[in-house]
Amino acid sequence: MKQVILSRTLPVIYLIMLGLSKYAVVVATVLSIIAPTVARPTELHPGDASDLIINAQDTINGTISASASKTQGIHATNGTALKFTITNNIAGNVNCYINGQDPNKNNAPVMLTPNFLWYYPTASTNADGTPAPVTESVAIPLNAQGLTTTIMIPSYVVSARVWFAVGELQFFTVAGDNGSFSVVQPSQSNPADPSAGINWGFIEFSYTADGGIYANISYVDFVGLPLGMSLTDTSNGVQTALGLKADAVTNVCNDLAAQAVKDSLPWDALCQSINGTVMRVLSPNDYMAANKSSGFETYFDDYVNEVWDNYTSKPLVIDTQNNAGNVSCTVSGDTLQCPDDGINYSKPSTADIFGCNSGPFVTNPTDSSVHQATVPRLCAAFNRGTLLLPGGDVQPSLGADSYYTSGPSNFYSAIVHKYEVDGKGYAFAYDDVNPSGDGENASGTVSSANPSVLGVTVGGPSS
Ligand SMILES: *[C@@H]1O[C@H](CO)[C@@H](O)[C@H](O)[C@H]1NC(C)=O
Ligand SMILES: *[C@@H]1O[C@H](CO)[C@@H](O)[C@H](O)[C@H]1NC(C)=O
Ligand SMILES: *[C@@H]1O[C@H](CO)[C@@H](O)[C@H](O)[C@H]1NC(C)=O
Ligand SMILES: *[C@@H]1O[C@H](CO)[C@@H](O)[C@H](O)[C@H]1NC(C)=O
Ligand SMILES: *[C@@H]1O[C@H](CO)[C@@H](O)[C@H](O)[C@H]1NC(C)=O
Ligand SMILES: *[C@@H]1O[C@H](CO)[C@@H](O)[C@H](O)[C@H]1NC(C)=O
Ligand SMILES: *[C@@H]1O[C@H](CO)[C@@H](O)[C@H](O)[C@H]1NC(C)=O
Ligand SMILES: *[C@@H]1O[C@H](CO)[C@@H](O)[C@H](O)[C@H]1NC(C)=O
Ligand SMILES: *[C@@H]1O[C@H](CO)[C@@H](O)[C@H](O)[C@H]1NC(C)=O
Ligand SMILES: *[C@@H]1O[C@H](CO)[C@@H](O)[C@H](O)[C@H]1NC(C)=O
Repeated sequence: MKQVILSRTLPVIYLIMLGLSKYAVVVATVLSIIAPTVARPTELHPGDASDLIINAQDTINGTISASASKTQGIHATNGTALKFTITNNIAGNVNCYINGQDPNKNNAPVMLTPNFLWYYPTASTNADGTPAPVTESVAIPLNAQGLTTTIMIPSYVVSARVWFAVGELQFFTVAGDNGSFSVVQPSQSNPADPSAGINWGFIEFSYTADGGIYANISYVDFVGLPLGMSLTDTSNGVQTALGLKADAVTNVCNDLAAQAVKDSLPWDALCQSINGTVMRVLSPNDYMAANKSSGFETYFDDYVNEVWDNYTSKPLVIDTQNNAGNVSCTVSGDTLQCPDDGINYSKPSTADIFGCNSGPFVTNPTDSSVHQATVPRLCAAFNRGTLLLPGGDVQPSLGADSYYTSGPSNFYSAIVHKYEVDGKGYAFAYDDVNPSGDGENASGTVSSANPSVLGVTVGGPSS
């Protein structure tokens, strides 16, 4: 247990420490009745290597031959080098980290050094079996607030991230099976991650010979250090995804606390704080995955029942926006059934709705085109709470001004969009579902086969 304890929880913790767990439960219950549903962020408690959680979201896996030298990078003068210009708009010692996989070396994990060479980490595990820290110098310090720093990506790289941190991040490696190993990256959803107490964020990108650059900012998992992108191609075309405003995390948390007061759900617990400072905000999907008794478990249940009741007696029209056109779905025997879909929809749980990738929302490449179109449209409609609004019997058809206007819906998504500079950045997995021709596109992606420079702002847009 770490030193940092909110004063309200102090007596409870004290009682638990004394072994009086029954009293602790009683006191906790009484406190939660007395205490209003406000200012209740989740407290972070950064740990060490033994607190890391190894999962697909936070690892990059690969192999590297034992003969590979540590820093055998291709120098940045190579014709394939790509320039990033980073504008630092936040105070403090801000570091950049770039990691990914080298497609020219069987996707070996790589990390960029401050002299723009790739470092190829090797499997190293602590004697006690925990992941070992990466000790190579991989932090690229940014120039001070208001200044720009140029970083060269020396060669093609895939599944890559550009991380920014006010302070230092900790990366680890751990040996896997058959000579493979994992690079373990900072995790937003583990409150004990060694980097949990640092303000950080990342952009995801791939840079390949065929595709050029593809870079993406997303709030599907969390909101952290605000980052924005501006990609210029070799014909001077510019694409932007400007990200969140500088004070977005604070504002998002204030709004989530207000929502918690309104509906008594723990929206404010999505905020992850340390010593009273919020570091990041988890999406309800990530929060539910990290906390099995989150308080959201049955959030959508009544609504799902009401939707199912409604579409028993009348059809729900899904505009597939593909060759299948409109399909009329109706509930029969507890499942929603759509012609030519091939798979019936059982009632989704709240976790299914926030994640859009479990229960009835699982998709496979072999599914019919009706199913592949219906899953995103149905899940988006649940997240936005539009299924019982007038006109909501055709999905998608209602515009953005009707999203999140009634509960239950994904208020995290509603609130995050409020603080986006240019409306870019998905806040749930199928945020790209929109009525035909309405021009909405929240995609936080920029891409070009002929990139010239990727500009990034750290800590909010440049004014
Ligand atoms: C990497 O390997 C670990 C350990 O086997 C596994 O848990 C994780 O899901 C893998 N990561 C990816 C991205 O596949
Ligand atoms: C330049 O980069 C390409 C692609 O990564 C690589 O195949 C080639 O060997 C590099 N050339 C030099 C001179 O480093
Ligand atoms: C490791 O190699 C063995 C033998 O080839 C194979 O059966 C096993 O599936 C491999 N394990 C992984 C995780 O790839
Ligand atoms: C939180 O407070 C503790 C104890 O004063 C201190 O050691 C730690 O550095 C603080 N962490 C942050 C992120 O401010
Ligand atoms: C953007 O990145 C997120 C993960 O951060 C990923 O889920 C999503 O598919 C990406 N978006 C696109 C359009 O590829
Ligand atoms: C899980 O969520 C509940 C309800 O918001 C909260 O009381 C509890 O502290 C959380 N547990 C953890 C480990 O964050
Ligand atoms: C359909 O939904 C509306 C709006 O919530 C509700 O008033 C109505 O009772 C529902 N109808 C059925 C048949 O469930
Ligand atoms: C689907 O139905 C809606 C509402 O009736 C209509 O506006 C739209 O044009 C239809 N789409 C197609 C492809 O027929
Ligand atoms: C969907 O439900 C209908 C009616 O109950 C049934 O005839 C059909 O076999 C179901 N389809 C699948 C794929 O389970
Ligand atoms: C939205 O914008 C992204 C990135 O510019 C693009 O790839 C995608 O095709 C667009 N989607 C729609 C529906 O226009």
